[in-house]
Amino acid sequence: MSNEIGLFYGSTTGMTEDIATRIGQIASEKYSVDLTPINIADLDNPNDIFLYNKLIIGTPTWNYGEHQDDWEIILPKLSETDLTGKTIALFGLGDQVGYPEYYVDAMGMIWEQFKSQGATFIGEWSVEGYEFTQSKALLDDKHFIGLVIDEDCQPELSDARIDEWLAGILPKLQA
Ligand SMILES: Cc1cc2nc3c(=O)[nH]c(=O)nc-3n(C[C@H](O)[C@H](O)[C@H](O)COP(=O)(O)O)c2cc1C
Repeated sequence: MSNEIGLFYGSTTGMTEDIATRIGQIASEKYSVDLTPINIADLDNPNDIFLYNKLIIGTPTWNYGEHQDDWEIILPKLSETDLTGKTIALFGLGDQVGYPEYYVDAMGMIWEQFKSQGATFIGEWSVEGYEFTQSKALLDDKHFIGLVIDEDCQPELSDARIDEWLAGILPKLQA
């Protein structure tokens, strides 16, 4: 299993689930990489996520900068896991018009937790093309820590964003 890439997500109203599915489809059709999206709500043991050494992990942000419900339950259960040697590419969903001060915060909060546990991150993404005032998912002034998808405000851009992001991360996750 260690050479495979794990694709895990949490989703409350299905948008992140849809994007995880599209990530899987584009990876398969354009890059001949098999990715099976797994909803974290379906895991018997949350630590099964880290049976994989290479991971794509997705989350939306809810309720003014809070975790999605399933992540809220699972993250504390993972807090003792040593993530040294794990390589993670994050993707986050949010609404830049509705929640500009908390934009994709939960992706930043997952980053903070897993980084403190020793994980390495790839897949940073430019802030160009997004309008927001604050985000915990900022790596620096010009980059998010991972891919940002906005199905509420910019759904027409999602497939191209996924495609460009996958082109950058898949070679690194397969190395
Ligand atoms: C009540 C509510 C609160 C939300 N809070 C935030 C937020 O704080 N930050 C943000 O970027 N997006 C926020 N959103 C937008 C969601 O993250 C976005 O709609 C996302 O695509 C939902 O994903 P899901 O269907 O996978 O749960 C919120 C949406 C709702 C309905």
